[in-house]
Amino acid sequence: MTLDIIVGAQWGDEGKGRITDLLAANVDFVARFSGGDNAGHTVTIGQEIFKLHLMPSGIIHESVTCLIGNGVVINPAVLLRELSGLRERGVTVNPDRLKISTAAHLITPAHIALDKADEAFRGDEAIGTTQRGIGPAYSDKINRQGLRAGLLAEPEHLADAIHDHIAAKNLVLKNEYGAAPLNATDIAAQYADYARWIAPFLADTSLIVHEALENGRSVLAEGAQGTLLDLDHGTYPFVTSSWPTSGGALIGLGVGPKVVNRVIGVAKAFTSRVGSGPFPCELSGSEAERLRGTGENPWDEFGTTTGRPRRVGWLDTVILRYAARVNGLTEIALTKLDILSGLEEIPVCVAYELDGHGGQQAHPITHFPASLEQLAQCRPIYETLPGWQEDITAARSLTDLPPNARRYIEFISQNLNLPLSIISVGPKRSQTIMG
Ligand code: GDP
Ligand code: IMO
Ligand code: MG
Repeated sequence: MTLDIIVGAQWGDEGKGRITDLLAANVDFVARFSGGDNAGHTVTIGQEIFKLHLMPSGIIHESVTCLIGNGVVINPAVLLRELSGLRERGVTVNPDRLKISTAAHLITPAHIALDKADEAFRGDEAIGTTQRGIGPAYSDKINRQGLRAGLLAEPEHLADAIHDHIAAKNLVLKNEYGAAPLNATDIAAQYADYARWIAPFLADTSLIVHEALENGRSVLAEGAQGTLLDLDHGTYPFVTSSWPTSGGALIGLGVGPKVVNRVIGVAKAFTSRVGSGPFPCELSGSEAERLRGTGENPWDEFGTTTGRPRRVGWLDTVILRYAARVNGLTEIALTKLDILSGLEEIPVCVAYELDGHGGQQAHPITHFPASLEQLAQCRPIYETLPGWQEDITAARSLTDLPPNARRYIEFISQNLNLPLSIISVGPKRSQTIMG
């Protein structure tokens, strides 16, 4: 009876989909617990690349049952597009293999319109959201006005609920943002159509998880986003509107902490961030281009969901120690180590220098500051490690790695006081080293 939780340890896009797919080979259930189609999780199998937004990354393993938990927000249009895309590629997606919580919340075109209008309204202070309606859908949930997925099984209530919802949002769109109103009748018809397709997948996923664990089966919770995007623990307000940390897995699936076994923090061998907000280790110019890539490789640092170039920087262990703390990490899965091959030297941020203010002297800090204002005044303090020149994409054990790559791994492990249980040296399943 075990629940293992995978979370992003940085600002998202750490390779959670790739690590979930890897571990899914040995589990019975894979469950998404937070976020929505703001997530873009890439799974590479041979020459095939799957970009998943709502579907748990266990879906490619035919023996795995996938769950979309109550903590997720679902755009039915995206779900159905993803579902048919997978079926076209030969993946079985039916109500035996995919179960969607009746308590998950629905995203509507009104949420998307509000997300876009709010971002435009914020101007220079925009969050840089994915404009998928995530924030407005979670706001409605918190305000106790949300539309739950269970409505899709109640056609007699669905149309009224959509009409009321769109009427209320049209007032806000018009009066607060001067935006065009939406047509409630069209949207109600659309949602009635989605409901016919989605209703058979609805279930009480919390009960399914509970019974699975009681029967000695294994469940893998797949985080979306990352620790620094957490509504409470991230760089607020430049965060998403849900809880991507391990606590969010318990709420987002409806299980208690007793069942948790491993909490795996996925971390990229450097750091990336999409959207606005402070990023102490951010690089620019040729150093950034070196880490980001040009976009010609599928793994280059351009958003899976939005295609935006990601902001990049060297590895930041202050962030990772923070992620270890707020998630209770038992280990790290380090991805994209191969991207660092060919560098002469590799700086690693080990602490920040916090600028003096109010007459204080500038001083080093080793913990992640609790205030955004302080974080914005932090400069990275680097320790520089020697690089390696060899291509490591064919390495399958620690001993296949050049000594300086091993040294990089050991340095991180010691610094975080955590084992690096998985090291990935390429996007494919086989390009993995079990530490
Ligand atoms: P997620 O959102 O955390 O699932 O991560 P994304 O899929 O958005 O971004 C990670 C990108 O890195 C994807 O294109 C993966 O295929 C790729 N990737 C994952 N692990 C590795 C690795 O070890 N090496 C390389 N080169 N690419 C990787
Ligand atoms: P995965 O699961 C990276 C970021 C957005 C923006 C902020 C708020 O692929 O790691 P939102 O649309 O959620 O309201 O946007 O959060 N963001 C992500 N960044 N990876 C993600 O998901 C993200 N999901 C949201 O860029 O800065
Ligand atoms: Mg992603």
